[in-house]
Amino acid sequence: MKLPFAESYKIKMVETIRRSTRNEREKWMKEAYYNLFNLRSEYVFIDLLTDSGTGAMSDKQWSAMMLGDESYAGSSSYLILKDVIKNLFGFNDYLPTHQGRAAENVLFSALVKAGDIVPGNSHFDTTKGHIEFRNARTIDCTIDEAFDTTISHPFKGNLDLNKLEEVFKKYPIEKIPVIIVTITNNTSGGQPVSMENIKAVKAMAEKYGTKVFIDSARFAENAYFIKTREKGYEHKTIKEIVKELFSYADGMTMSSKKDAIVNMGGFIGFSDRKLYEKCSVFNIMFEGFVTYGGMSGRDINALAQGLDEGTEFEYLETRVKQVEYLGDKLNEYNIPILQPTGGHAIFVDAKKFFPHLPKEEYVAQTLGVELYLEGGIRGVEVGTLLADRDPDTRENRYPKLELLRLAIPRRVYTNNHMDYIAAALSNVYERRNDIKHGLKILTEAPIMRHFTVEMDRI
Ligand code: F0G
Repeated sequence: MKLPFAESYKIKMVETIRRSTRNEREKWMKEAYYNLFNLRSEYVFIDLLTDSGTGAMSDKQWSAMMLGDESYAGSSSYLILKDVIKNLFGFNDYLPTHQGRAAENVLFSALVKAGDIVPGNSHFDTTKGHIEFRNARTIDCTIDEAFDTTISHPFKGNLDLNKLEEVFKKYPIEKIPVIIVTITNNTSGGQPVSMENIKAVKAMAEKYGTKVFIDSARFAENAYFIKTREKGYEHKTIKEIVKELFSYADGMTMSSKKDAIVNMGGFIGFSDRKLYEKCSVFNIMFEGFVTYGGMSGRDINALAQGLDEGTEFEYLETRVKQVEYLGDKLNEYNIPILQPTGGHAIFVDAKKFFPHLPKEEYVAQTLGVELYLEGGIRGVEVGTLLADRDPDTRENRYPKLELLRLAIPRRVYTNNHMDYIAAALSNVYERRNDIKHGLKILTEAPIMRHFTVEMDRI
């Protein structure tokens, strides 16, 4: 008999989670104003809100924490991470930050000014937020295939080089300080970018005279897809692929809460010493001295260890196969999900799930609420709420895709949990025609409204 696939780890510590009744969930959801961010986590049975900071650290990470050096300046933890970053990504300099958006804040303080244009592949919401906050604008150059959930393309996160070149033709180069390549492309489905594409983006950046920074939160999952899908990389190790990938970038911002499997942390990697020096000033102001920048020494140690483990093939295979397992189940139940499944999450196509609901009724958020009521599962809306209002016209932006993201934390849930999620979603799908109305907004914040919005049923 062929041996089946099995996880590349065993479990040493567990955390109890609690089921609830439908009546309890109805009450809690109402009290939370139909915003899943407002729910207490103990009211959630399976939490798929995010894969960010929610992973389970390994025994080696926990033991590395005991060796953290908490010195204000020149700590050994800082130097351990410096070595890991140099070996893995090839960058000589780095600045620790407390998380990914802090890295964006520091970098963009030095790099982006009012009136600038920052092209990229579906910038993540905090990236876009930090750019728009500086009265600069983003331009999404993701390939068109990414906006059709049914097309199965191996690198749906890719940038369309024609769209990118249009940006360079339309705007003066002084207004384009950087291209941001997000790997994997979270907003359009956790989809990878190919090595070939990154290489071409770098070539274009050099041709016109600007920089490339990689928003690297899920860089290791991206490297796994390159290894398993791109010709010429099947025999390379993940670490070799990562090294080549980052050789096409001038630097990186990192939310370590994802592929470095820590609960908190981030950093910026630089190849340009001058830019590093410029950013150091902002790092000291916003984050902390350059050798700790918002992180404790023990957290830096766990991060260094996590970067090493997170770029091992066996770990990544276990990780991505679990997401695929859930995707296969949902396909079996004919639930409309984004194809192919990405690295960190399943994205349910809410417009196809509820074709009868109008776009003004926050369709993906409605699905998120229904899935919670069904099984105590918490996902997150990646749709009209997240897309927010246009900063100029203040009108609602209606994105091409209206998705419910089910992000799978790393090394946390078993495949029994995946079966439970699939069954709950299938039950909602079976009664989809009984759900006649969506949601309306009661109150919202002027920027990044999805975190605090208060809603009610229509
Ligand atoms: N870039 C990407 C691609 C991200 O997915 C995130 C966070 C960030 C930057 C910001 O990093 O949270 O450490 O400040 N994404 C989380 C998510 C929040 O749920 O996808 P952060």
